[in-house]
Amino acid sequence: VTPAPLSFNPAEFAAQLGCRHPIIQAPMAGGITTSALVVAVSRAGGLGSLACGMLAPLAMRQQIQQIRDAGCLNFAVNLFVVKDAEPDGAVLEAAAKALAPYYQSFGLNPAPPKKYAEPLQAQLELALESSLPIVSFTFDLVDRSVIRELRNRGTRVIGTATTVDEALAWEEAGADAVCAQGLEAGGHRGGFSRALDREQLACMALIPRVRSRISIPVIAAGGIMDGSGIAAGLALGATAVQLGTAFLCADEAGTHPLWKRELQQRTPRETALTVAFSGRPARGLRNRFIDQMASCAASIPPYPVQNALTAPIRAQAALRGDPEYMSLWAGQAHAMIRSASSEEIVRQLVEETALALARLNQSGKWSALT
Ligand SMILES: Cc1cc2nc3c(=O)[nH]c(=O)nc-3n(C[C@H](O)[C@H](O)[C@H](O)COP(=O)(O)O)c2cc1C
Repeated sequence: VTPAPLSFNPAEFAAQLGCRHPIIQAPMAGGITTSALVVAVSRAGGLGSLACGMLAPLAMRQQIQQIRDAGCLNFAVNLFVVKDAEPDGAVLEAAAKALAPYYQSFGLNPAPPKKYAEPLQAQLELALESSLPIVSFTFDLVDRSVIRELRNRGTRVIGTATTVDEALAWEEAGADAVCAQGLEAGGHRGGFSRALDREQLACMALIPRVRSRISIPVIAAGGIMDGSGIAAGLALGATAVQLGTAFLCADEAGTHPLWKRELQQRTPRETALTVAFSGRPARGLRNRFIDQMASCAASIPPYPVQNALTAPIRAQAALRGDPEYMSLWAGQAHAMIRSASSEEIVRQLVEETALALARLNQSGKWSALT
């Protein structure tokens, strides 16, 4: 039952994954990718992804079941590759001190979190027993034995990379495809090498570089919001595209209403790459928390510790309707966001891609310029 290698041809690739279009709705943790979103995108001919990185195994099982109950059999499940955190006392003390003013102003009691992250092992076991069509990973590489086990059960595996070396590592470990995430992307950077903090490649440089070095299909992610972006991703050598921000204002997305409102402002906010909310670089709409925390960068512990420590602040800010202290993840092209049903969004994306490709074809005259 080991799956056959994936095609580099976008239409064949889509068919192998059980969808009509090589358009993947990105997994978005934190309740954004509801089972309804995954089902609606898949019905529209794209590939829906369920973000399970922050789900306990029980919730993960329920959401997978909801998707299947709705008749959707082809979808991806996404996991965070995170080790158990055991922060030492001094680290926690410094972090608590930096966050104390926010705990105070929101009337919160600083209590140690019950856990920092969901247990990957239990999530993996569930993924294995659920015979999933596709599992994607972000934040780190998984052991090649995990990939082998998944593939032996017929599951295709996609790894996230932000550099050529990371893409090579996924290929070497046995992944079926690599999602190459450019710097434009909304949400967390999915890379794991130290280069994450140094050379940060946007899609225009990342996609062709990865494409030329690996021999499994590349999925382009980052800043793609319309058909011209999809055509560009394919032109750069990707076999498929993955869009996150483009679905944040979809009717079926679980995005908080305030977050949607901020994304729909006529004058768009700028985005920033920040470690303030979670301890791992992530791109979101710039707000007061990001700006203020910049002065205590040295006290911010790595993911998932900071993420757990800021969770009560973010939750309280959402309750009080204050977007300045919420994590409003969004990619650099968010100003092009559309608010519609995800079926309508996918339909428009497909139509626009055909138009963009036809426009390029017709302008065969461009070569006359040379
Ligand atoms: C709100 C939000 C949450 C995200 N959560 C995840 C996640 O759980 N797992 C993952 O692999 N990628 C996650 N991403 C990153 C996406 O997979 C993808 O790389 C990104 O959305 C592409 O850039 P774009 O937002 O400009 O389309 C998230 C992105 C956003 C915007």
